[in-house]
Amino acid sequence: MFARVNSLGLLGIDGFPIKVEADISQGLPGFDVVGLPGAAVRESRDRVRSSMKNCGFTYPVSRITVNLAPADIRKEGSVYDLPLLLALLKASGQLEMSLDDSAFVGELSLDGEVRPIRGVLPMVMAARDNGFQRVFVPEGNAAEGAVVDGIDVIAVSSVASLMGHLSGEKILSPAHPEDFPNLYLSDEETADFSDVCGQAAARRALEVAAAGAHNILMIGPPGSGKSMLARRLPSILPDMTQTEALEATKIHSIAGMLPGGSGLLKSRPFRSPHHGVSVAGLTGGGTVPRPGEASLSHHGVLFLDELPEFSRVAMESLRQPLEDSCVTISRVSASLTYPCSFMLVAAMNPCPCGYFGHPTRTCKCSPNAQQTYLSRISGPLLDRIDLHIEVPPVEYEQLSSKNPSESSASIRERVNAARAIQLERFRGTSVISNARIPAGMLRKVCAMTDDASSMLHGVFDRMGLSARAYDRLLKVARTIADLDSAEIIDTRHLSEAVQYRSLDRKYWRK
Ligand SMILES: Nc1ncnc2c1ncn2[C@@H]1O[C@H](COP(=O)(O)OP(=O)(O)OP(=O)(O)O)[C@@H](O)[C@H]1O
Ligand SMILES: [Mg+2]
Repeated sequence: MFARVNSLGLLGIDGFPIKVEADISQGLPGFDVVGLPGAAVRESRDRVRSSMKNCGFTYPVSRITVNLAPADIRKEGSVYDLPLLLALLKASGQLEMSLDDSAFVGELSLDGEVRPIRGVLPMVMAARDNGFQRVFVPEGNAAEGAVVDGIDVIAVSSVASLMGHLSGEKILSPAHPEDFPNLYLSDEETADFSDVCGQAAARRALEVAAAGAHNILMIGPPGSGKSMLARRLPSILPDMTQTEALEATKIHSIAGMLPGGSGLLKSRPFRSPHHGVSVAGLTGGGTVPRPGEASLSHHGVLFLDELPEFSRVAMESLRQPLEDSCVTISRVSASLTYPCSFMLVAAMNPCPCGYFGHPTRTCKCSPNAQQTYLSRISGPLLDRIDLHIEVPPVEYEQLSSKNPSESSASIRERVNAARAIQLERFRGTSVISNARIPAGMLRKVCAMTDDASSMLHGVFDRMGLSARAYDRLLKVARTIADLDSAEIIDTRHLSEAVQYRSLDRKYWRK
């Protein structure tokens, strides 16, 4: 006897339909899986056999052949346990009803419990796009599945509850997004910019960076508040649009990083990998490819604290993703592309001892040691960072001042207003922020006054800017003008943008 049950697989960040086919025939008892199964799929047999027995069904002692179609795409993970169990039940005549308009995903425990899996959100989206009426998902993944409109998502906790539903004994109702609290990923909710004393220039630069999603590098002595400032950045980032939230949630779903019971990500991701991170950890990879930190920061922030301590290959591996906003991982089995449109925030000391240029302390580093330290950061990487700022030591008067600094909420209002102008400007295109203006659109959206234009000419010749640095300078000026609600870029806006580009000359080009 033969049976077919619908399921779903993952390819990069998208799901696709899979058919799990089971054939039971006469012959020596055996179990073969074909259709490029990975190790976890092969082990499915043992989980399915035990859960069938422990749920009161009979495991067919015959020759069993299972095919996962399409047969030329590699299948990974434990997601096919549940559809395989149903296919075997149907093929052995223990389950009669038609399941053609439904798709099933889920891992099984030996006693028939349905366990959560990775990637439910993109799978449910694929089920909807392929015309299924409903999709059965593990209860632990119900929240992310419920986010998708236009399809019934039914959460099952065990094989027994699924059988109760299929036989009509105890119908399970579809999951609704309102049933789940939205997930706020960042734990920085209590961290507020009002905690930061002084540092007016750094605060302003972070506001500009947040408003246009620009990359930023902070240089300063130990204890000046670089890490403190960066960790408060999520509190002033603009709200995510629905599309951004869906994309970011999809990647967290694939990486298995959505805590159970949580729906759509609402706050922008903030990732802060340790400097020992490998290239695969940063940009994605592994034998079964997974998204890396860069993709997990999609639409959010990738914070690299103590930048020179990162390995050179790890830093350089970010060059291409910073330009293209995506990472392509090629394996023999498939080539996968993960999006990674993130804002890079980096912090570092100016030299190994940390006190180069300090107003009161003397730096103990030899010029050579300092240059070696700085040269760990390559010119091309620096060129991709739009804003370079110095974070000087805080003065006593500022630290002991009774006047609280401006709060995150009020900075965020300005950032949100500037981002709203950008959303309006880029309506109908795939661009979402000034930092991502494509070359072809740059001249059109960055109109400037004649004075600003001649100032830019002078700056270009004097600073020896690269074509990329020139483009990035214009984009930052555009953001500063947006924060000022100005349509045309003025000399004020441009000179502030130029000031954010001058630090690399001070430290790197002596
Ligand atoms: N501007 C500031 N206002 C209030 N507190 C500050 C400020 N700067 C630093 N601090 C205090 O000093 C601590 C250390 O700051 P932080 O870790 O941000 O320094 P850093 O610049 O990252 O130093 P390092 O270069 O050693 O990493 C903070 O947790 C905070 O308590
Ligand atoms: Mg620090």
